[in-house]
Amino acid sequence: MKDEIQTAKSILDSNRKNKYTIPSINLYPHQWSWDSAWIVYGYCSINEFQNAENEMMSLFKYQWRNGLVPSIIFHDLSDITYFPGPEIWELDKSASHLTDKFCTTGIVQPPIHASACLKLYELSKNKIFLNLIYPKLLKWHKYLYTERDILDDGLIYIRHPWESGMDNSPAWDESLNRIKINEYKYSKFRTDNKKVNPKERPTDITYERYLYLIELFKECKFNERLIFEKSEFIIQDVLFNTLLIKSNNALLKIAQILDKKIDINLINYWIQKTKLSFESKLYKNSFYYSFDLKKNKHIEIKTISNISSIIVCDNYNVVINSLLDQFLDIKNNNYNIASLERNNKLFDSINYWRGPMWVNLTWLIINGLKKLEKHDLANKIKDNCIKKISSIGFYEYFDSNDIDNKKISGCGDNKFSWTAAIFISMIRDIKF
Ligand code: GLC
Repeated sequence: MKDEIQTAKSILDSNRKNKYTIPSINLYPHQWSWDSAWIVYGYCSINEFQNAENEMMSLFKYQWRNGLVPSIIFHDLSDITYFPGPEIWELDKSASHLTDKFCTTGIVQPPIHASACLKLYELSKNKIFLNLIYPKLLKWHKYLYTERDILDDGLIYIRHPWESGMDNSPAWDESLNRIKINEYKYSKFRTDNKKVNPKERPTDITYERYLYLIELFKECKFNERLIFEKSEFIIQDVLFNTLLIKSNNALLKIAQILDKKIDINLINYWIQKTKLSFESKLYKNSFYYSFDLKKNKHIEIKTISNISSIIVCDNYNVVINSLLDQFLDIKNNNYNIASLERNNKLFDSINYWRGPMWVNLTWLIINGLKKLEKHDLANKIKDNCIKKISSIGFYEYFDSNDIDNKKISGCGDNKFSWTAAIFISMIRDIKF
């Protein structure tokens, strides 16, 4: 295992650009927000605390004045191999009242940063870093509560599929399909489907809709209320709010460590409010579902987002049963957690978030199972994942139907940073 840890470490080393780490050289040559937080866990597992701190500081340096933490920082403007880049976002024209750094997107990714920063502090004990990062984390959560909970029910909404981290999940299809596309304007500029197998990537029409939403945000000058009114895509996602609940708890601990008395009350208020709505609003027909605020209804599709609730929810037995019956395939000795329930007609074991196994969310679920003392199941899933990566490589995602660890079952990009980071975290048994 020593060799594999060394390989994982060398992937992080070669993907690290000065003070931040790119997800992978081929497909994702910039800094991604939630990737960086997963990567922090990897650095923590090998005691590379300085790299972990740099990762967070490089990201938060680009936080907007309203607290928004961008999903991507295009640090290296000479790299034009990623689409859509800053030339599409045009923040100098649409968001100069919110930021003076135009090399970012204007969307977010799931809020796992406070959790990662607390873990980092617990291991490094560096209070200087904690003092520096804390106000930025607080501002980030404040943004979510003031700008993304317009109905004031304690659940944060996403306004773009990319904000979920699970870009082309079937859970987004119905909302996206309401966006009418008359002309294919942008998909011809895509680079992702030329760099890796297009069967493992979203379709062109989906890309047109992704870009349509970006145009809408620019037109609204990133005014959240206006976007809320005009957009078809406004969703309270289970995974996003699960990670928020976890991060709120981490933020509370950090505030206690730093003795921020006034903030403690506010964070406690957020914790209670979100948890209450999570259990009352997202739980329907004996399961946790994301909520489409535009149609005022649950999105009754079971994806890995719903299973991720295991780390914070009250009704965890139904989640575990669904994991066993619909996401694993135990009778065939298959311990890959699929990203979509296996009997859904849209299930596709190699297409991005429509079926493959992803290592980051697998690790999250393993942690949930362990917390609930389901050690046997957790260890089987973990051993399967470690064995797979060791035999196939550090891919972005994996064919969830593969049980023989065939080389071709590695999907998307290779030498992927969060796969490397989480591989080490699994082996070193770091807790999420
Ligand atoms: C893909 C994933 C997203 C991730 C990004 C960079 O877009 O869907 O979650 O952050 O790649 O790795």
